[in-house]
Amino acid sequence: MIPPKPTPRPDRVSLRHYAQLFRRDILSAQPARLYRAWMAEFRTPFFRSYLCNDPALVDLVLTERPDDFPKSARVREGLKPLLGRSVFVTNGAEWRAQRRIIDPAFARGRLHEVYPALLAAAEAARDRLKAEAGGVVEIEAFASHAAADAIFRTLFSIPIEHEIAARVFAQFRAYQRAQPLLNLGALLPLPRWMPRFVPFRARRAARQIRALIARLTEARMEAIRAGRAPDDLATKIMTTPDPETGRCFTSAEMVDQIAVFFLAGHETSAAALGWALYLLARDPAAQDRAAAEAAAFDPARGVAGLSALSFTRNVFRETLRLYPPVPMMVREAARCERFRDRDVPPGAQIVLSPWHLHRHERLWNEPDRFDPDRWQSAAGRDSARCAFIPFSAGPRVCPGAGFAMIEGPLILAILLRDLRFRPLAGAEPEPVAQLTVRSRTGIRLSVEQSDVASRTHRDAKAAIGATGN
Ligand code: HEM
Repeated sequence: MIPPKPTPRPDRVSLRHYAQLFRRDILSAQPARLYRAWMAEFRTPFFRSYLCNDPALVDLVLTERPDDFPKSARVREGLKPLLGRSVFVTNGAEWRAQRRIIDPAFARGRLHEVYPALLAAAEAARDRLKAEAGGVVEIEAFASHAAADAIFRTLFSIPIEHEIAARVFAQFRAYQRAQPLLNLGALLPLPRWMPRFVPFRARRAARQIRALIARLTEARMEAIRAGRAPDDLATKIMTTPDPETGRCFTSAEMVDQIAVFFLAGHETSAAALGWALYLLARDPAAQDRAAAEAAAFDPARGVAGLSALSFTRNVFRETLRLYPPVPMMVREAARCERFRDRDVPPGAQIVLSPWHLHRHERLWNEPDRFDPDRWQSAAGRDSARCAFIPFSAGPRVCPGAGFAMIEGPLILAILLRDLRFRPLAGAEPEPVAQLTVRSRTGIRLSVEQSDVASRTHRDAKAAIGATGN
């Protein structure tokens, strides 16, 4: 099955036309040759940008010499009103100290501790959707709600219905409407000295989100002092000292970090979940296989039980390949470089594009096809080793990657145990890069109570009963 991809622009367009296309959607503003090229240079009198698809260059920038390719001030500027000096935007010693505190909370060995909260979020999402079974559901909005719920439950042990959580979520949606190109603004072909415009409505929403988060972190600080704080991610991060300096985050610093966990941790997972459900709806045979696996899966076994979801995990990986939530990442060359026989001046922008790398014609077989089984083939695994970076790579890799790879398959399995998804005729989503890769007009699917899953579920139960007798 070949799901939709944006129509690329012609190879040559004027800078003005490019800027117009870019503002409409960065994905369709790119020419088709980028799905074949190893590198592309974009030059204007005040701007040089290099898109790197050559795996050796991607590796150099992200893993081998990341300090020579920091995040640029352009990235920081657009995000500052919401994220302050969070780990997402800092560089150097400040960034390293932040990661030393954050990383232990997300260490693989500790992820079983967030499983109960993720399961509760998945079950709540299923119940909400069951109430709408028999109708048509806007799946992106549903997925955003589910992923935000998962973040609040794991960070602060509160569900999305909690008064402050609900207000943060609502303000966040207002923020996105006011500032849709947030993290891609750095890619705009504008001179470096030109200030980035952050709309008033976005600033106001950011202020309100931060004030609400401050209430949560202050209350948590008090609970920690009083010895009655729940053992969730917020407590772990607030009580973990930097192993080198012994210093913990202050309440004010925690606001920056919580803002980024909320932003980076729910928008991305929501985008992936929405596309995964769409891909399964378009491929009934794959949905049957995932539903059968889900029916036999025992959620009570915790993280260990997830090993039974191998096909569902491959569906989720394939979704991250075709619709990487973060379509492009931007870095800046700190000094002179030479990339594929071209001089790259200091200050040039280096663009790493999961979107192009994951669909690269010279790196993947049938790159546009949805094929979860490719993840079991040697060729698929070879391609993934050099051309699959949905979570980035190297020291700046997403700290939430392990969390997301539990959350995504788990929510899918819990939904597929009881529900079946079908596409609507004439409602093909068009992928566009907003804050993450979303559909321009949402993803509308018909949702029904599932016969296959309930039958298999009954069969599985009967089989278990028969064994017990
Ligand atoms: C499917 C889900 C997710 C995807 C595809 C994803 C992807 C990414 C990517 C590509 C980056 C690097 C961005 C860049 O360098 O410009 C990143 C960074 C980050 N992500 Fe995720 N992410 C996901 C889920 C999460 C979750 C669940 C959390 C936390 C709960 C999280 C927290 C972060 C943080 C804090 C950073 C900044 C790391 C740093 O710069 O050192 N992400 N993520």
